[in-house]
Amino acid sequence: MKPIYFITILSGTLFVASCTKKNVNSPGFEYMPDMYRAVGLEYYHAITVDGDTIWGAMVPPEHTIARGYKPYPYPNTAEGYELAGQNLKNPIPYSEEVVKEGEMLYTKYCTHCHGATGQGDGKVAAKLPGPPPPYTSANLMNLPEGKMFHSITYGKGLMGPHNFLSVDERWKLVHYVHKLQGKTENASITSTDSTQTNSKK
Ligand code: HEC
Repeated sequence: MKPIYFITILSGTLFVASCTKKNVNSPGFEYMPDMYRAVGLEYYHAITVDGDTIWGAMVPPEHTIARGYKPYPYPNTAEGYELAGQNLKNPIPYSEEVVKEGEMLYTKYCTHCHGATGQGDGKVAAKLPGPPPPYTSANLMNLPEGKMFHSITYGKGLMGPHNFLSVDERWKLVHYVHKLQGKTENASITSTDSTQTNSKK
């Protein structure tokens, strides 16, 4: 038999054979069952597989915090907002580079609501029942940077929380918002603005 006929007949047979199932509900042969049927690990739990004990993750020792993690002490309450406004200062020194990074983050996460220049005219803002106030409004011009950080962290009103951004990233955003407000280096505001408290949440 010419090889070409042989190959044609063989592949035809294999094709038909591969389509024929005795049990229509059977998924057929699994080449790598471990990939399809992975053992689900629950974190902070031990499970036993084939006599071996596997830990999902170890419970952190008490009174420890993860490396690089900075706990945020102010709760998402009106009091927390006030305290953040009084006590928090931007730990990142102002520099052109930091402002550039802030701008990059702002373009990704804020422009669609606050608008490129912070006037509250982003595309999404147009769909909101109440657009964000311009950063240059009197209230926001007087907003202490700690309150700004607090609101970026927890969100405020129609603005969602941005705690998925690192602490440093949120402070860089504060620098950039200051730039949009026309404030220059180290223009931190110390007065607390109690009118902001009522509209919290
Ligand atoms: C879904 C749209 C939306 C997004 C996204 C958004 N904001 Fe807002 N933001 C708002 C609205 C609406 C308000 C007014 C909230 C209020 O006072 O009720 C606001 C308020 C603020 C304030 C004033 C907070 C205060 O305490 O009064 C700051 C500062 C701010 N946003 C910064 C940011 C930054 C920085 C980002 C990006 C990380 C961002 N926002 C993303 C809608 C948004």
